[in-house]
Amino acid sequence: MWDSLWHKGPIGTMAAGRDAPYGAIEAGAIAVEAGRIAWLGPASELPGPPEDLARDCHDLEGRWLTPGLIDCHTHLVYGGDRAGEFELRLQGASYEEIARAGGGIRSTVSATRAASEDALLEAARPRLRHLLAEGVTTVEIKSGYGLSLEDELKMLRVARRLGALEPAEIHTSFLGAHAVPPEFEGRDEAYLQSVIDMLPAVAESGLADAVDAFCEGIAFSAEQTDRLFAAAAAQGLPVKLHADQLSDLGGAALAAGHGALSADHLEYSNEAGIDAMARAGTVAVLLPGAFYVLRETKLPPVEGLRAAGVPIAIASDCNPGSAPVTSLLLMLNMACTLFRLTPEEAFAGVTRHAARALGLGASHGSLEVGKAADFAVWEIERPAELAYRIGFNPLSARIKAGVRSQVGPGPATS
Ligand code: NIG
Ligand code: FE
Repeated sequence: MWDSLWHKGPIGTMAAGRDAPYGAIEAGAIAVEAGRIAWLGPASELPGPPEDLARDCHDLEGRWLTPGLIDCHTHLVYGGDRAGEFELRLQGASYEEIARAGGGIRSTVSATRAASEDALLEAARPRLRHLLAEGVTTVEIKSGYGLSLEDELKMLRVARRLGALEPAEIHTSFLGAHAVPPEFEGRDEAYLQSVIDMLPAVAESGLADAVDAFCEGIAFSAEQTDRLFAAAAAQGLPVKLHADQLSDLGGAALAAGHGALSADHLEYSNEAGIDAMARAGTVAVLLPGAFYVLRETKLPPVEGLRAAGVPIAIASDCNPGSAPVTSLLLMLNMACTLFRLTPEEAFAGVTRHAARALGLGASHGSLEVGKAADFAVWEIERPAELAYRIGFNPLSARIKAGVRSQVGPGPATS
């Protein structure tokens, strides 16, 4: 007997090997055993009557079942907010000007350092729940607003605690090289060295699943990022990079050269970078929310990525500055409207390709026997509706590791 069985509806498997759009199986059935997919196929091929096969049978009543969504790039643990900076930008200040004047990431660093671990947890929890309420089952969370070993570990502990409190799988990235903190003003090289020196303790703590960096004129150079990534590799930690967001520093090629899981943003990436990513199997994570908020006009090289066969993921970039975003469904819409992805490409971007951007391609992101039983069930006629609508949530059920849990967007009650 299986633990549970879902049937009588279309299943968008998103599996790479299936020809149908969304890898769909019409009138499908999917069985769960011990949190994993035990059987999957047309319901007509089930080895018996559903009630005899599983302890718990769910009638989809024609609703679509897809993989649970994966948000593979967020900074959702942070103190304070930056609504004031939003007002400054509306008066004409640019993101870079605000950053150079000591605002931006640095103002969130002060608020994050001042917050207790519990306060950070309580602030982040509703943001996470907003994501989950739209069918998200796996979320990546970065540090990067602590910028000292102690404060970075505090952020990473909060991320891990969120994963224990909420029905979601959390993957973490250590982003010590996000900005130069005030106590290192004018001494970026000394700070970079201190981040490199933090790596053994970060690795030892087990709190980080990857190392990330911000390679940009207002942050760290390509050469500095290169050294950090070499040190991360020495600690056995995979890398990913905020690359070519505001200018072309060759970040895409640099990330690919280190076999990065992903290179993210990429608005200013060049052709050589794209080719290097294709060769290395580095995923392109596009962040339409940050593009929109910053009113960027340089589009990421979607056609080049497509032509080179680079997998494209889409994420929220949830952060208090460039992307105060807690809706991955809205990002599907923006990926199509702003970046001209097809709805199916955008959906692959929050499922199969997002899993790969976290190094989880073998176990998550598509519905295949043996993979995690992470599902979303949608009250829709066709999957394009998920990208087409704006501000509408058609989620009907959310299943994490085989367990159904409805998460409301409101503040946690526990
Ligand atoms: O992904 N680019 C750098 N980091 C974030 C923004 C962080 C912030 O402004 O607080 C991003 O856009
Ligand atoms: Fe980011």
